[in-house]
Amino acid sequence: MAAPGRERWSGQAGFVLAAVGSAVGLGNMWRFSYLAAENGGAAFVILYVGLTLAVGIPVLLAELAIGRGAQQSPIRALGHFGGPAWKPLGFVFVLAGFVILSYYGVIAGWTLRYAWIAITSGFGADIAERFGDISEGPDAFLFHLGFMALTIAIVGSGVKAGIERASVVLMPALFAIVAGLALWAATLEGAGAGYTYYLSADFSKLWHPAVIKDAAGQAFFSLSLGMGAMLTYASYLERNQNLPNESVVIAGADVAIAFVAGLVVFPLIFALGLSDKVGASTVGALFITLPQAFAEMGGVGRVVGLLFFFALIVGALTSAMSLLEVVVSSAMDGLGWSRARAALVGGGAITALGAFSAFDIRVLDVSDQFANNILLLGGGFALCVFVGWVMPDPESEIRAGSGEVPWAGIWRLLLRFIVPVFLGYVLYFSVPDTLRAIAGLVAGSP
Ligand code: TRP
Repeated sequence: MAAPGRERWSGQAGFVLAAVGSAVGLGNMWRFSYLAAENGGAAFVILYVGLTLAVGIPVLLAELAIGRGAQQSPIRALGHFGGPAWKPLGFVFVLAGFVILSYYGVIAGWTLRYAWIAITSGFGADIAERFGDISEGPDAFLFHLGFMALTIAIVGSGVKAGIERASVVLMPALFAIVAGLALWAATLEGAGAGYTYYLSADFSKLWHPAVIKDAAGQAFFSLSLGMGAMLTYASYLERNQNLPNESVVIAGADVAIAFVAGLVVFPLIFALGLSDKVGASTVGALFITLPQAFAEMGGVGRVVGLLFFFALIVGALTSAMSLLEVVVSSAMDGLGWSRARAALVGGGAITALGAFSAFDIRVLDVSDQFANNILLLGGGFALCVFVGWVMPDPESEIRAGSGEVPWAGIWRLLLRFIVPVFLGYVLYFSVPDTLRAIAGLVAGSP
């Protein structure tokens, strides 16, 4: 079944760190904090944790089961268990890889730029004005190009020699930096106001479809679900791993880093009295307000800012690797290309596509909405149906390597009925909204 000589992770730690690397990224440190701030603080955090348990973990485990079971890249894996009718879904996954990485690479480029500023000149008070040039235009494209070159080089080096090696070194560094920054932020005067803002719960917002849609989209994005990234990583596993435990560890680490990142961001913003600027725009909290905070802190701010943006680069890089790997593994399996060629051609095409987002931030915004609200939620819906109803005996796949799984029955039940109904409900609200946003962009209105 498995192609002889298929690449492999070196073992459990390598796989889990790579998967956590995929999950932990800009989503945790950029999207999560502004979504929480906008949508009811701790109430949103509680909703988000609930969705991760009830929706995220089941879908994650579904992807792992398909990937490890089939030992193939997404298009072939779906064909393996579901026949030719399911292969088009795999093509949608590859398309999602193109779309997401094209704008994700641009935002990652901003983080590279900020780290560069911290090293060379330090943050100035004019950062808000400079953000326009950093985020949009030739500079944005150049840093996107640099980031993509790094991603291509690592993914091109192999699963073990590239992706795993980078993750094993970088992820522990990211954990240490984020934890250290959270401890340091607690010592700031005014940190209390930041915690209050972040952690006071406004439950009244919780039941709006828009909030539930945001939380569900974020859970999918943050766990890298709905486009076969986790599926692809699991295809490099032997059948002796405990997938249910690993899915819980991956989701736990992902939620923990998002939560702790909020414990860095909010005290910092409140300690410097910049709170009125949060939420003014989706990117505001991170890319404008935080550098302002670093600027006001002088030398300390430069060091802290560098650490913060370094952690963001690490998160973005290990996530981008998984996005590119979906495209690369598909080209290798489907077209017979070498890894190096697939990484270069696929990554090159994605880099070029990113020009649209780099030169027009509205394209970036709409791509993000399209990917999250339609591609990932739709992909997740299809994955539930696939594992719930089509794949033969998925329970025995997750039992392989883990023995009896007490919640295997509940898992199947969630995938068959509860999660698809929930995702159907969310899609019902999010698809028309998103299509309107795209139509607006095409029509040229802001
Ligand atoms: N999870 C990453 C983040 O939070 C982004 C990411 C990586 C991703 N791979 C993915 C999102 C696959 C969706 C699908 O930043």
